[in-house]
Amino acid sequence: MVIIMVVVIEKVKIRKKVDEDFNSMFEIAKGLPEWFDEGGLKTMQTELKTHGGFAAYLEGTLVGFVTFNAAAEGIAKISWMGVRKELHRRGIGTRLLQSLDEYLIDLGFGILEVDTVAESVDYEPYEFTRNFYYKHKFKKHRVDRDFYGELNNKHDRLVLRKHLRID
Ligand SMILES: CC(C)(COP(=O)(O)OP(=O)(O)OC[C@H]1O[C@@H](n2cnc3c(N)ncnc32)[C@H](O)[C@@H]1OP(=O)(O)O)[C@@H](O)C(=O)NCCC(=O)NCCS
Repeated sequence: MVIIMVVVIEKVKIRKKVDEDFNSMFEIAKGLPEWFDEGGLKTMQTELKTHGGFAAYLEGTLVGFVTFNAAAEGIAKISWMGVRKELHRRGIGTRLLQSLDEYLIDLGFGILEVDTVAESVDYEPYEFTRNFYYKHKFKKHRVDRDFYGELNNKHDRLVLRKHLRID
C-alpha cells in the first residue's frame, strides 16, 4: 500500500484548471454518487466552469480537482473537490489542497473555508470527507441547522475554516 501510494504521488502533476478540464472533472463527480447528488451535480455544471481551481493529472488523465471562489474580504471558499474513487487515499487530495493554499496565500487570502455535511448526520462517506479536512488543519467554525435538504429530510451544514500561512 505504501509503495503504491509513493508511485502515484510522484507521478501526479498539479496545475491550474483550464476550460477544457470541465468534462473530465464532471465525470469524476458523477463517479462519486455517495457524495454528490443530482442537485450538487446541477450546481457543479456552472461552478466547475466559472470557479478557479486546480486539476491533478496522472499520466495525462485528470484524476482529481479542487475549485474555489472568493467568499468575502480575505476569505476563500472551496466549492468542490473530488478525486477518482479508486485513487482515494493516495495523497492526491492533499497535493491539490497544498497547491490551492499556496495560490491563495499569493493572492493575499488569509482564511480558507469549506462547507460540508455536519457530524449530526450519521453517514460514513462524509465522515471520511470531514477527516480529510480535519487532517489538513480545518477547524469547526459554525453549524447551520437544517441547512441542506427539503421538508422532512433536512440536515445540518458544518462550516470549517483554516488560517492560511506559509509553514
Ligand atoms: C475528500 C477527497 C477529495 C480527499 O482526496 P484523497 O486523495 O482521497 O485524500 P488524501 O489521500 O490526500 O488524504 C487522505 C485522508 O482523507 C481521509 N479520507 C479520504 N477518503 C477516505 C476513505 N475512503 N476512508 C477513510 N478516510 C478517508 C482520511 O483522513 C485520509 O487520511 P489517511 O489516509 O491518513 O487516513 C476524496 O476522498 C474525495 O474525492 N472524496 C469524495 C468527494 C468529497 O468528499 N469531496 C469534498 C466535498 S466537496
